[in-house]
Amino acid sequence: MMAGLMSVSSRSAWIQRSFKGWIRGGIIQQQALLCVGGALAPPGDCIVTVEQAVSVWTQCFQQHGISEALLSSDYIIAHVLGKKTLQSLERRRLQEKLSDKQREEVWALCSKRLTSMPVQYVIEEWDFRDLTLKMRPPVFIPRPETEELVSLVLKDLQSLWRRSSLRCLEVGCGSGAISLSLLHSVPQLQAVALDQSQEAVSLTKENAERLGFLDRLDIYHLDIMKDTDLTVRSCSPVDVIVSNPPYLFSDDMESLQSEILRFEDHSALDGGLDGMSVIRQILTLAPRLLKDEGRMYLEVDPRHPPRIKSLVEERMLGLQYLGSHCDFTNRLRFCILQKRG
Ligand SMILES: C[S@@+](CC[C@H](N)C(=O)[O-])C[C@H]1O[C@@H](n2cnc3c(N)ncnc32)[C@H](O)[C@@H]1O
Repeated sequence: MMAGLMSVSSRSAWIQRSFKGWIRGGIIQQQALLCVGGALAPPGDCIVTVEQAVSVWTQCFQQHGISEALLSSDYIIAHVLGKKTLQSLERRRLQEKLSDKQREEVWALCSKRLTSMPVQYVIEEWDFRDLTLKMRPPVFIPRPETEELVSLVLKDLQSLWRRSSLRCLEVGCGSGAISLSLLHSVPQLQAVALDQSQEAVSLTKENAERLGFLDRLDIYHLDIMKDTDLTVRSCSPVDVIVSNPPYLFSDDMESLQSEILRFEDHSALDGGLDGMSVIRQILTLAPRLLKDEGRMYLEVDPRHPPRIKSLVEERMLGLQYLGSHCDFTNRLRFCILQKRG
C-alpha cells in the first residue's frame, strides 16, 4: 500500500512505536498515543515537550510521504503555541512541556495533515505580504509569486497613487489576497473583486471584514466566461485590472502534487487546453472595463507572455502590450498591458 493511503489505525500504530522509543529513554512514562474514534490522540496524562512533539510528527510525516515534513510540524505546533514559527521561540521554551489542551490540539491538527491536507488549511490561516488571511478548502491558497505580482502593481502605479481616488478590479479573487493587500497599501483605493466560486466570494468577504476593508471593497459572485454584460455593468470603469487567473494547461493538471489536486478547487487552476481560456476572456473584456490608459496586470504561465503579446498585437486593437516581468525563479510570469487612449 502507498504510504499516503495508509489507514488511520496503521498510522496510529506507527506513531505509538516511535513514541515508545522515547518512553524507553524515560521521558514519557506511558504509551503516548491512542486512537480515539478514528482520530490520533495522546492519552490525557502523558508528558510531551515541544521539541519531542516536533520530532515525532516530523518522523511520522516523513514515514507517510507527507511533503515538507519538518516545516509542517513546525508550522502546526507553532500555530498551537500562538506563534508563526518555532524559530521565534526561545530554546528553553522548546524543552517545556505542552499543556494537555495544546497537546490535544497538536495531535488533532497533525492528524489532519496526515491525510495530506495542506498545512494552510490545517491551521486555517496563511500570511500573504503583511496580512494574515483565513484559509478554507477548496479556495486557492495564495502562492509567493503572487506577492511579487502585488509588488509589481504597487511599484508600477506609484505615479498614480497621488490621485485622490483609484478603482481596481480583481478577476478571480480566491481568498482576497491580492485585493486586500492593495487596499492595505493604498489608502485611497476602492476595489471590486469577483469570483465564480461562492466559497471564494464568502472567504474574501470574511477576510475583508476581519481586516476592516469591507467599506472599500465590493465583492461579486460572477463568472466572467458567462456573466460578461453583468461583469461590465457591475465593475467598470476601473483604473486597474489585476488577476492571477487559472492558467495551467489541462494536460499539466495530472502532474500536480496530489495534495493540491485533492484539496484545491480545480477551476482555480485549470486554464483549458493552452491554459488561456480565462486569460483570453479577460483580454477581450478589458477594453470595456478599463478607463482610457488604464492598466492590466496578469500572472501567467511562462509560455504565455509571447502568446499574449502576439494575440494583443494581431487582434486586440483596444490594448497595448507594455511588457513582461520575471518571478524570483527568473521565469517570465507577469504581463503588463494598457488600454489605448
Ligand atoms: C489561481 S486562483 C487565484 C486566487 C487569488 N487571486 C490568489 O492569487 O490567491 C484563480 C481564481 O479565479 C477564479 N476563477 C476561475 N475561473 C473564473 C471565471 N470564469 N470567472 C471568475 N473567476 C474565476 C477561481 O475560482 C479562483 O478563485
